[in-house]
Amino acid sequence: MRITPPRPSEITPPEHYARRREFLRRAALAPALMLGGTVLPAPSFAAPGDGARASPYSSDETPTPLKHVAGYNNFYEFGTGKEDPARHAHRLVVRPWQLRIDGLVKKPVTLDIDAIRKLAPLEERIYRLRCVEGWSMVIPWLGFPLDVLLRQAEPLGGAKYVEFVSALQPENMPGTGSRVLNWPYREGLRLDEARHPLALLVLGLYGEVLPNQNGAPLRIAVPWKYGFKSAKSIVAIRFVEHAPLSSWMEANPREYGFYSNVNPEVDHPRWSQATERRIGEFRKRRTLMFNGYGAQVASLYAGMDLRRHY
Ligand code: MTE
Repeated sequence: MRITPPRPSEITPPEHYARRREFLRRAALAPALMLGGTVLPAPSFAAPGDGARASPYSSDETPTPLKHVAGYNNFYEFGTGKEDPARHAHRLVVRPWQLRIDGLVKKPVTLDIDAIRKLAPLEERIYRLRCVEGWSMVIPWLGFPLDVLLRQAEPLGGAKYVEFVSALQPENMPGTGSRVLNWPYREGLRLDEARHPLALLVLGLYGEVLPNQNGAPLRIAVPWKYGFKSAKSIVAIRFVEHAPLSSWMEANPREYGFYSNVNPEVDHPRWSQATERRIGEFRKRRTLMFNGYGAQVASLYAGMDLRRHY
């Protein structure tokens, strides 16, 4: 898919891009090689030097090097260690891939990943991602507003929340043998959060298709919430009337609430949320309310007690 300037080399240090090409070539080929030795063309969004449309929502911070973005992950289906996803996620079968959107909708749909890619032009959005464990990254995502996808099913008036369900491929996901979470991984957003222009449907990062460990072939990125709200490798989206129970709430409701907005004033029982360490840096930074996106999203929570609705 061809996309328009600015070139990613203007946005991201060139050395990242040089490393990225070889890395992603291998990442993209790995699943293809598993399919009976037939090498499928490595899917690519951008020819060298091309870039996606830049977004006014992008942070102007330097992106975290790709080796960290794709090497230090939480994707519990592949294990709870930070390096487990990079080690095992080549086993995730990402083609064919279909996404089902149903529930309280006028038009339930099943969309193939290739059809989803064609729904809207891709944008590059450089977003901060703040993990509840106290680390953060800056990631140049490629995607388009989540609402473009949600609209395809024509949600009904009674739909107030959206549930996201991740893939469950037990034979390829060594982590799903453990009961650390109830599989498949499930997350939820209020409908107005999911339709907010900052909520991104992500198909790639650093100018290329998503590495499997980052949630290929499609995930979401909700930058004002803790990282776990951004479900990876999504196979189903359901519109529902009541707040869905996420896998994390089910595992530990005292530690994980439905909203999970980045909030330096409300600590997680095990981790302070006042500061964070940017991966690749030593000094800590102060964590910002709503991860620094307050001007855009604070109005979604006007009048709510964010200590109670954590
Ligand atoms: N999605 C699924 N399916 N499984 C997971 O374990 N981990 C979450 C989120 N999405 C997770 C998931 C957590 S805790 C974080 S911090 C982010 O993914 C990490 O995204 P990244 O590895 O692409 O940075």
